Amino acid sequence: MSLIKFIEFKNLGDERGNLVSFEENKNIPFDIKRVYCIYATKDNTVRGLHAHKTLKQVAIAINGCCKFILDNGLNREEAILDTPTKGLLIDSCLWREMHDFSDDCVLMVLASDIYDESDYIRDFQRFIEAVY
Ligand code: TYD
Repeated sequence: MSLIKFIEFKNLGDERGNLVSFEENKNIPFDIKRVYCIYATKDNTVRGLHAHKTLKQVAIAINGCCKFILDNGLNREEAILDTPTKGLLIDSCLWREMHDFSDDCVLMVLASDIYDESDYIRDFQRFIEAVY
């Protein structure tokens, strides 16, 4: 089973332009407790490099594009985010790395909980030990 799970958001646009909507427990499969954005990312930056014990997230490239690697300790897969109509569902216990951000990339992340550093696993070896 693929680690890459996309959610397709309907484009509600019309002749005036595009519109997408994100609703908790409708097209986003959890309560949205937090929204954060990553933007103006410097060239050659790799972000993420962690897993979460319980947090679920949906990542959406609101502008521009970036690449996501997801790793469950067994398999590593890559996804490209390049449109606001596509969200990457990132379940808990997945190692993630984001890279190849375009200069204009605005990556919006919807999260199932508020920020909690104790939910992070920031060491890959510790992540492997936690999932096995
Ligand atoms: P971090 O999650 O490490 O970024 P990355 O996306 O590269 O994994 O977050 C960077 C810093 O910002 C870290 O000090 C924690 C802080 N932070 C918050 O305070 N609130 C948040 O919602 C997030 C995502 C990060």
